Amino acid sequence: MRRWHATVLLGSLLTVLVWRALPSSPAPDGRQLYQRHCAVCHGEKGKGDGPLARVLAFPPTDLTLGVFKFRSTPSGEVPTDADLRRTIAEGIPSTPMFGVKGILSDAEIDALVAFVKSLSPSFRKRPTGEPLPINPPEPTPALLSLGQRLYRELACDTCHGARGEGDGPMAKSLRDNRGRPVRMPRFSDARTFKGGHTPADIYRSIMTGLDGTPMPAFGNLLEEREGWALAYFVHSLIQHCSPPRSGATVPVVKKSPLPESLDEGWDQIPAVKVPLEATWEREVMPETVQVQAAMDRARWALKVRWEDKSQDDDDALAVQMPARTGGLFPSLFWGDQQAPVQVWRWSPKQGLVAFRAAGLNSCTLSKTKGVQGKGRWRQGMWTVVFVFPDAPTARRIPFAISLWDGSKKDKGERRLLSGWHFLVVGE
Ligand code: HEC
Ligand code: HEC
Repeated sequence: MRRWHATVLLGSLLTVLVWRALPSSPAPDGRQLYQRHCAVCHGEKGKGDGPLARVLAFPPTDLTLGVFKFRSTPSGEVPTDADLRRTIAEGIPSTPMFGVKGILSDAEIDALVAFVKSLSPSFRKRPTGEPLPINPPEPTPALLSLGQRLYRELACDTCHGARGEGDGPMAKSLRDNRGRPVRMPRFSDARTFKGGHTPADIYRSIMTGLDGTPMPAFGNLLEEREGWALAYFVHSLIQHCSPPRSGATVPVVKKSPLPESLDEGWDQIPAVKVPLEATWEREVMPETVQVQAAMDRARWALKVRWEDKSQDDDDALAVQMPARTGGLFPSLFWGDQQAPVQVWRWSPKQGLVAFRAAGLNSCTLSKTKGVQGKGRWRQGMWTVVFVFPDAPTARRIPFAISLWDGSKKDKGERRLLSGWHFLVVGE
């Protein structure tokens, strides 16, 4: 009896010891991650009423309603965990919801999935249907021409237009379930497929439909092979793709002397295209900015170039970076108290302005601490160069771009912005 007691005690003591010895990596807190990265649009409780929602061209989903567009489950059901993971990791193209793949860890993305599910009672009901199996056949010419025929026979063109440009006879009158005009995809432009543009993504959208919109589910009408035929046909219409919306790397190339001027010394340094999205209802123009970076022993420099047909005093560019190295990944929307960002903004009117931001509407001017900024508009292009007076603070520095075009009436949160990308210090 005693002995048994002792073993149990020893056993639990050991457990405690072993548990203590393990590296302490607490499970990520989905609620906190959601408040940091999502609430600005989706609102604290998921109602789609975050502080940025008023500005956005397209309102964020009310996550409490249990109606989701991007699902592998039958129409009317909630998405699977894998569906939510894909949406959160990849983001939603053509909206300023950038993906968090490469920015948050897999465990953090899983915690976000769990938190999103906790926002709606619909996730507590039992699913009645099976998720759509994805078994792509070979995309033969015969399959493609079957797809082309079905596209007309099933009247896809009445909404999507004969060539898929979103200009079918019904397109203008289409509304979503909340009475708002829908934004039609243009099949020539991969960036307008909100649910992804691989053949499997397109197949999923066609078979399960986009709930809450007039896009029907065709799964009950079509054989698997016919669904793939349509998916390959739609995929074959894509002509225009974009570079990654977030997570691209920009090498910080070693170069002595450091290129400090707007033109000289930058020729050999690779330029990375960073795509932009608009926060409000306006054309995304320019579609990308070009970013270059260089360093010598003591300093580093960043050059950004973009197209703008007309020069305007209210044009401006800002680069944001985490204010602290290591630690939490800040919100793309100007950080927060726990993970603030440092912002460098250049405009022809004000020149270089530095501020530290800890959330939307929470920024304070900071000293420029020897950082220089200069810019010039010439022949329809802006060029801005920042020179930093010290060595880069880390091997991998996250950065994001914001751009205001005065002639397009951009102001404050009405702007173009990129996702998070990384400056990577070379050998
Ligand atoms: C800049 C604003 C913004 C941010 C930040 C944002 N979203 Fe969204 N989100 C949107 C918009 C807009 C939509 C609706 C897109 C549509 O329906 O066409 C959306 C839709 C969604 C959907 C529904 C997709 C579907 O299948 O219908 C989910 C889930 C979602 N967001 C989760 C998140 C999570 C989790 C985060 C944080 C990691 C996040 N969002 C951050 C704007 C945002
Ligand atoms: C009644 C009108 C209507 C018909 C018919 C229709 N669609 Fe759609 N479709 C839409 C709308 C509206 C959207 C965009 C919904 C949104 O994002 O809000 C859409 C979106 C899509 C998308 C893009 C999904 C994404 O990722 O953004 C694909 C692909 C698509 N439809 C294919 C088809 C095909 C193929 C057919 C015929 C088999 C078809 N649609 C029939 C209205 C329609």
